[in-house]
Amino acid sequence: MTAITFTDLTAHIGAEAQGLDLSRPVADADIAALEHALADRAVVLIRGQDISPEQHIAFSRQLGSLEDHVLSNFCLPGHKEIFVVSNIIENGKHIGAFGGSKQYHSDLAYLDEPSMGSVFHCLECTEEGGETSFVSMSAAYAALPEDRKLWLQGKRAVFDYVWYYEQAHRDRPALTAEQKAKVPPIAHPVVRSHPVNGRPSLFLSEVWIRRFEGVDDAESQKVLAEILEFATGPEFTYVHKWAPGDVIIWDNRNSMHKACPFDEKGSRRRMHRTTVAGTRPFFEVVA
Ligand code: OGA
Ligand code: MN
Repeated sequence: MTAITFTDLTAHIGAEAQGLDLSRPVADADIAALEHALADRAVVLIRGQDISPEQHIAFSRQLGSLEDHVLSNFCLPGHKEIFVVSNIIENGKHIGAFGGSKQYHSDLAYLDEPSMGSVFHCLECTEEGGETSFVSMSAAYAALPEDRKLWLQGKRAVFDYVWYYEQAHRDRPALTAEQKAKVPPIAHPVVRSHPVNGRPSLFLSEVWIRRFEGVDDAESQKVLAEILEFATGPEFTYVHKWAPGDVIIWDNRNSMHKACPFDEKGSRRRMHRTTVAGTRPFFEVVA
């Protein structure tokens, strides 16, 4: 039996979990309840968590093994499992990554084995803006017109991290040969089954996708934009306004997310992310 109670945040996506203290080991039954909530609701919010990086990492490890980010320059010193997302500059240097996440994506989708989920902890946030917007890709898939579902059947999308980075992040240091070697182009099914509940989801992103296999780049970008326009409609979306101490676990297998704009010059936003390893996306028809 789990001690957690869940309250839905919108019709299709998001649940708030109450009854958890992430500064201490979480019971197995509660971890199982969180895993089911992620499969069904994609986003789980846990408020009021005053946790250290060590406690954040220990909790995240209860969900799976953790990834180190390819951009190791944005990891917390001494804690390579924590990826810092922040606009703050200290000693003339950005303490974290910011910029790549203002478009919808799921984390590490460009890897052979993309992340299963991320655990995001808010340390500082702004009064205005700086929300994170989430989209349910299972609800979006279910609502797609039948002819679009048919078009997508059996299709794969080519995710190309280096191709994207080189056009989008001209302001960031060039990737080293070693970094590039870690992220070759990779094809994933555009509709994937969730390993926990079997529900199909779109597995797409506003970034990194170069084309659909067997479709040229220009046509691919046109269709991709069309599908994403539909998928990011308000009925599939939850926008979270952050408060310090909020933790959100998001499921990268059935959702996308992006950061919303805020005054990056005049205010501070500091978030810590751990990224839980996942398995290769697959599609299986459920009987
Ligand atoms: C991320 C991300 C969004 C945000 O850390 O993976 O996309 O709101 N963050 O900062
Ligand atoms: Mn992200």
